[in-house]
Amino acid sequence: MSAPLGAAVPQQILLAETPEGWVAAACEHWRELLVDHLGCEKKAASTALALLFAYPEDGGLTLALSRLAREELRHFEQVQALMNELKVPFARAKPGRYAAGLRAVSRTSEPDRKLDLLLTGALIEARSAERFAKLTSRLPAPLDRFYGQLQHSEARHFQLYLRLAQQAAQDRGLNWRARLAVLAGREAELATQPDDQFRFHSGPP
Ligand SMILES: [Fe+2]
Ligand SMILES: [Fe+2]
Repeated sequence: MSAPLGAAVPQQILLAETPEGWVAAACEHWRELLVDHLGCEKKAASTALALLFAYPEDGGLTLALSRLAREELRHFEQVQALMNELKVPFARAKPGRYAAGLRAVSRTSEPDRKLDLLLTGALIEARSAERFAKLTSRLPAPLDRFYGQLQHSEARHFQLYLRLAQQAAQDRGLNWRARLAVLAGREAELATQPDDQFRFHSGPP
């Protein structure tokens, strides 16, 4: 598969940088961050599996996303181990606005649906990588090192989703750049506008 943006970095598709207010809140509420992060890894695995079920005829996609789902579950296990080590108890919480906000601007009929799901996956992974990069120098050990490692994994996942989106667009003659502009615009609002819930992908308080 050709990869015109193979060396792409997350900042290339994100239209706004995470505000300092969110980073400061994350450092202060790192326990809540970790609990929400646990859910994000589980959701990342389940999203990859859902795509694998939705597009079984796409052999390249199913193989790549099967591997991705396993890697995200491994992250889930690592976060859970860290929570045990740091004595952070699990707590149920209402989902934040981020995923629902992105879903609200995604199209639901094919072939647009597939393209939007893959581009949304690329944006979520890119935002995760960007936030891990910001947190790695700010959080205490052992979170700093762990988030430093995850930054690279999530950047790789962003590149994978973007490549799959480009392939899906090419197969069906769709304009992925135009769709990315719309979805990235909404993503930037969700990540930067004041938010009354603190989450891994929330806006600043
Ligand atoms: Fe992950
Ligand atoms: Fe990921």
